[in-house]
Amino acid sequence: MHYTTRSALGLALLTTFVSAQTPPFIGALLLEPGLSNAKCMTAASNNDGAFVTIQGCTGATSQKWTFSGGSVKVFGNKCLDVTDGITTDGTKLQIWTCSANNPNQNFSYTGDNRLAWTNKGKCVDLSGGRLDDGNRIQSWACRDNNANQVWNTGYNVNQLPQTSQNGQFGTNACGTTSSQTANCQTAWINSADDFCLWAPPNPNSAIGDIEREAIAWCTKSGRGSRTIPDGTLKGVHFVKTQNYVQITGVGDFTKVNVRAGDAGGELDNRGADGKGNPVGGLVYGNTFGAGQQYHEWTTFISDSEFCIRACIGPDATKNCNHIYDVMGCYWNMPANYDAGVFENCDADNDLPMGVYGTSTWHQGVSPTPPPHPAASSSNCQALPTVKVTPAQVKRNGGFEKVVLPRFPGATPAPLA
Ligand SMILES: *[C@@H]1O[C@H](CO)[C@@H](O)[C@H](O)[C@H]1NC(C)=O
Repeated sequence: MHYTTRSALGLALLTTFVSAQTPPFIGALLLEPGLSNAKCMTAASNNDGAFVTIQGCTGATSQKWTFSGGSVKVFGNKCLDVTDGITTDGTKLQIWTCSANNPNQNFSYTGDNRLAWTNKGKCVDLSGGRLDDGNRIQSWACRDNNANQVWNTGYNVNQLPQTSQNGQFGTNACGTTSSQTANCQTAWINSADDFCLWAPPNPNSAIGDIEREAIAWCTKSGRGSRTIPDGTLKGVHFVKTQNYVQITGVGDFTKVNVRAGDAGGELDNRGADGKGNPVGGLVYGNTFGAGQQYHEWTTFISDSEFCIRACIGPDATKNCNHIYDVMGCYWNMPANYDAGVFENCDADNDLPMGVYGTSTWHQGVSPTPPPHPAASSSNCQALPTVKVTPAQVKRNGGFEKVVLPRFPGATPAPLA
């Protein structure tokens, strides 16, 4: 399958890295280290001098940071602050009452998800890369590709905002019903029978024309999205690796508004301008921890085929690279796409797309290398089919402790 539509090619030209001063997301944000989507930057208290540490994400006020004019605020009037403005590597961060033009409180968010201390060449750094609760966060010389310096911005799954990016078509606070007119832009990837596609809001649309407005169509009802009409999906292959979840398959996606004959296009968390495609699209899942946000994801959909990958960990941007946006599913996500099979598998990681030993290929450079072979999978469990069923409900304000059925052909346990 070649993605050579006008719109898909247009996308390729635009998918360059965009640098920014503030994150692409709006409102009060979690700051999750690139090393773990379960941990959050946390102020130890709201006193001046309180340590800034890493803790499990809880949705507490002490974990919600707001970017404004160079400052990173918590509790309304406290700012992320380099203690005494000391420029020595290893200086720990604290919070302190915000004051105008205080250089110790001046940070800018970079296009590669770092938090740089403005004009100092220093970055907010997870000390030693240690994820143990209470580890204090420090300032350290900025280094490219240093996983300790990646801070993804996002939202607690139980506190989703109405919108997460400016210019968003739909909403993220999608509620707990379902409707075929919903414009929900919060998607889930859990298993072969619990996932969402990004697809057009209106019938007969080319993906390349609606990539900024795509909405979630899900196999589960009860998440506020539209549901994928039964009979749409003809084959679905879910794999879980150490570093990502991936779903590949085939179907009749004209049933989710993709124009017949559309060769499709690519959607991802970064889009052409650093915002997502769709703008404001958020992706969550339970595979690596209940309700964790995936900050890096990439997906293709055409009228007949789809693939989705959502990545975690230090290599998330490599494994979910989305610069190869005219290369389509088979090249980016080599895997099983067979019709007539619905399955959940474990798998090894594929080699990162575009990386061949020590060299990295760039789209458009001749010759085009072959895709990597699909990594081996194991422990596959087949489902008879995939059709719309209710989502697991939330209870006690959070996700139930019940382990989500690994292979959801099984009937979930009744809720007490
Ligand atoms: C941060 O530094 C920039 C560039 O020097 C400056 O324009 C901005 O006003 C500063 N902001 C704060 C809050 O100090």
